[in-house]
Amino acid sequence: MFMNLILEEEKYFKEMVEVLFEASTSITYSWNTIELCKTEIKECLDKFALVGFLVNEELAGFIGLREMYEFTYEIHPLMIKPKFQNQGIGTKLLLEIEKIAKENKIPNLILGTDDEFGKTSLSKIDLYSSDLFLEIQNIKNLNHHPFEFYKKNGYKIIGVVPDANGKNKPDILMGKRIV
Ligand SMILES: CC(C)(COP(=O)(O)OP(=O)(O)OC[C@H]1O[C@@H](n2cnc3c(N)ncnc32)[C@H](O)[C@@H]1OP(=O)(O)O)[C@@H](O)C(=O)NCCC(=O)NCCS
Repeated sequence: MFMNLILEEEKYFKEMVEVLFEASTSITYSWNTIELCKTEIKECLDKFALVGFLVNEELAGFIGLREMYEFTYEIHPLMIKPKFQNQGIGTKLLLEIEKIAKENKIPNLILGTDDEFGKTSLSKIDLYSSDLFLEIQNIKNLNHHPFEFYKKNGYKIIGVVPDANGKNKPDILMGKRIV
């Protein structure tokens, strides 16, 4: 069941923090304490549309959307609790946020998916001294990096920020035209 977390922020704040803390450990160091997660969730509640997905009244995951450009909004974050992963919930949330975006006449969605833990071939080379576009074209998923999840949902790689999170820790930018 979908839930508008902006309307229910008091009830679900603690669970949102838990989801972010548990889910983000596989992809980033950014939210590796409960305090950092609380700060991030407060910021999201301030600036984003947030949709959650409940399983038996437990928050299994959530997705956020915010304006980045007039015609292009950013998806951030998308987090599913580990015990609920690979059950189609991430896809459901992505489709729901796309539906909301369409209803609001937002034509394009983008997102950044970091590779901080050497999970794609893009983290194995110096992107500044490589043929970046060729490397993007030949990207390999070495260890369950989520870019492939987005690809399966129609998002394409539209750029890379080399060293975004430190040397050889790029941010992979993806986007989709939804209308
Ligand atoms: C990535 C994430 C959002 C995907 O949500 P999910 O509910 O687990 O994924 P789904 O069950 O909807 O998967 C849909 C498809 O994507 C694939 N997929 C999911 N996660 C994947 C990953 N990390 N790497 C490769 N493929 C993945 C699934 O195998 C499935 O493929 P299939 O249709 O061929 O069977 C979720 O696993 C998650 O929160 N991971 C940790 C945090 C994260 O990486 N967030 C995204 C940061 S940008």
